[in-house]
Amino acid sequence: MPASRDRLTLVAFADPNAFYQGDADKQRDPARFTIQNFVAHAKLAENAGFDAIFKPDFLGLDTLKSDVRPRAGFEPLTLLAALSQHTERVGLIVTESTSYTEPYNVARYFTSLDNLSGGRAGWNVVTSYYGEENFGDGRLLPLAERYRKADEYMRVVYKLWDGWRPGAVSHSAEGHRFSGDLITDTDFAGDYFRVKQALDIPPGPQGRPVIVQAGASDEGLDFAARHAEIVFAATPDIEAGAAFHRELKRRAAAHGRDEDSLKALPGLNIFVASTPQRANEIYHSQFTEKNLLKYRDKIVREAPLFKLSELGLDEVIPASAIPSEEELNRVERRRSRGLLLRSYFARPGATLRQVLSGIYEFGHLTLIGTPQTIADEVALWFERKACDGFVVKGGNSFAGVSEEILPILRRKGLVRSDRGDTFRQAVFGPDPLARRRSA
Ligand SMILES: Cc1cc2nc3c(=O)[nH]c(=O)nc-3n(C[C@H](O)[C@H](O)[C@H](O)COP(=O)(O)O)c2cc1C
Repeated sequence: MPASRDRLTLVAFADPNAFYQGDADKQRDPARFTIQNFVAHAKLAENAGFDAIFKPDFLGLDTLKSDVRPRAGFEPLTLLAALSQHTERVGLIVTESTSYTEPYNVARYFTSLDNLSGGRAGWNVVTSYYGEENFGDGRLLPLAERYRKADEYMRVVYKLWDGWRPGAVSHSAEGHRFSGDLITDTDFAGDYFRVKQALDIPPGPQGRPVIVQAGASDEGLDFAARHAEIVFAATPDIEAGAAFHRELKRRAAAHGRDEDSLKALPGLNIFVASTPQRANEIYHSQFTEKNLLKYRDKIVREAPLFKLSELGLDEVIPASAIPSEEELNRVERRRSRGLLLRSYFARPGATLRQVLSGIYEFGHLTLIGTPQTIADEVALWFERKACDGFVVKGGNSFAGVSEEILPILRRKGLVRSDRGDTFRQAVFGPDPLARRRSA
């Protein structure tokens, strides 16, 4: 099985509701919130050849977003545990926050998910940039400290996952037997966490879940370069993709890692139809007055330094509404997104409508076209080393992505048809954890 970079690594959002944009009838259909719909979506992803499905998580009530794209009534980890029972091969990535959980809990969650799924668990490690009012003392740590704490967190979970050595459990007619001397106490005492005992459940087939991350700040990127096997990015064009890819691999090499031991996956939205004109129409149908104004309000709420709340859609954005780079560099939430937004809003003469409709997906790549043009563009990104694959976030039709675009990519030799026993093996080839450990 190839361990190197000769196939795309493909992840799809585990949410069918992300793929009904521009389809008002489907958006009104209550059936889209049922577990059956999520199961059908996961099966479609698996059969199409996606390596994994991914459920993001943000621990707070997002009233602005829920009006546009309401959530179904499922918490992400339990949802993926349910989906694991309806799928056989696809990886299952879910977000857990190092700011609002304890390592002992999270190590158990992923060991359990790995056991439930036969070795398909993946953890998107986030440090969170909001939601603090719902946890602990209500404070959000500064960005650099969030990542310092996350780094210690990882040292604890690695010890927990590696605490059970081979042979620690044996099975016989009389039942399971645990050999205490093969189970090592964690004995961790750091600045943020103290954990005494070993994990209380035996490891899953992967030992550790596949580690996923999406840091974009200097601290976040460095964390990803040290710990992650899959890295999500927000890169809106091929130059930004190539720069991110280069920088991530450079940082990984500086930490002694093989550059094929981590994959860079930009977020991708797809608007696909049988003609480019129709795909464009569907894409632009989202930009109703109401949606654009909601989007403006969301930006203002997430990045309050942008003074856009009173600005009409067809007004030219005044320079006074845009914060300086120095101001943005002092922000502790979504610093990198703030800088990216600045590069869009600071274009002279642009109206709010022009900018908002150009960046509707917050710095992620959007491809609009026919199955063939989209597959060609995906292949070009891969060839130019602007990505190792994509995380497909949303668009107008998941059936179009799975049943029309992926078969073209498969014919180009870019979709994996061989699969290992676990999610990690499917992406990296046999025994990749041993490779990673030795690095
Ligand atoms: C594709 C993608 C998915 C993400 N999913 C989550 C998520 O589920 N929960 C979360 O809190 N942040 C999520 N993030 C945000 C990142 O964790 C990170 O905070 C952000 O990219 C900014 O980087 P920084 O933390 O280094 O400033 C995601 C980012 C990307 C690009």
